[in-house]
Amino acid sequence: VRMLNPAKPLAGKKVLVTAGGTVERIDPVRYITNDSSGKMGYAIAEAAKRMGADVTLVTGNATADLPAGVEVVRVQSTLDMMDAVLARFGETDVVVKAAAVADYRPAQRADQKIKKNDDTMTLELVKNPDILQTLGERKTNQFVVGFAAETNDGERYALDKVKRKKSDLLVLNDVTVPGAGFGTDTNIVRIYDEAGLVEALPQMSKRDVAERLLGLVAERLNASAR
Ligand code: CTP
Ligand code: CA
Repeated sequence: VRMLNPAKPLAGKKVLVTAGGTVERIDPVRYITNDSSGKMGYAIAEAAKRMGADVTLVTGNATADLPAGVEVVRVQSTLDMMDAVLARFGETDVVVKAAAVADYRPAQRADQKIKKNDDTMTLELVKNPDILQTLGERKTNQFVVGFAAETNDGERYALDKVKRKKSDLLVLNDVTVPGAGFGTDTNIVRIYDEAGLVEALPQMSKRDVAERLLGLVAERLNASAR
């Protein structure tokens, strides 16, 4: 049996974290995106590094300070993020998908600034691929963690997502609760697997949430001795 170094429980593991919001261009001066400070994902990348992992951070738009000592891959669109993640998936042990991924992108991207014209205008959007679900379907030994930020019926959506996307764990946060919203330094999360609730954490710093989550990941990785 391989022993776990308690100070570095992710030693020898390759961890890939996605964070921030993906950006979908409408034209050279306009885009659509999701709210995301990147703080939770960056805290996870930092914690994984402290816990001994070799860390890659694939990041969309974010305002938080980039962590030191991790490989940073900057991306714009959801399709770019998908490419960056899939290119590295084979050699990755753990993926944490904390990014706020744009569900839709403009059907066309204009090369020149769109001029205003009529009183109404319609923007056609097409659905982006689901990166987390793709990972769930393609995984061999990888451990995959998803996130869900919900405003209502969190538990029901979390359980549905963890099953549908074949994630090993799913972290739910209710963004309507003070101390758990966007841009805060704290979070209140509940962690699920396909069998149900694994842990309900009280309000704590994003740094502590990251360590608790990765502690659980390390435990489960080790239990299955992958
Ligand atoms: N996700 C993804 N690719 C997408 C959409 C979401 O990888 N195209 C990931 C997110 O990074 C997150 C998880 O899926 O880890 C859940 O995202 P969420 O937006 O809550 O779920 P959706 O399936 O998009 O459902 P909805 O937005 O309708 O709640
Ligand atoms: Ca979504």
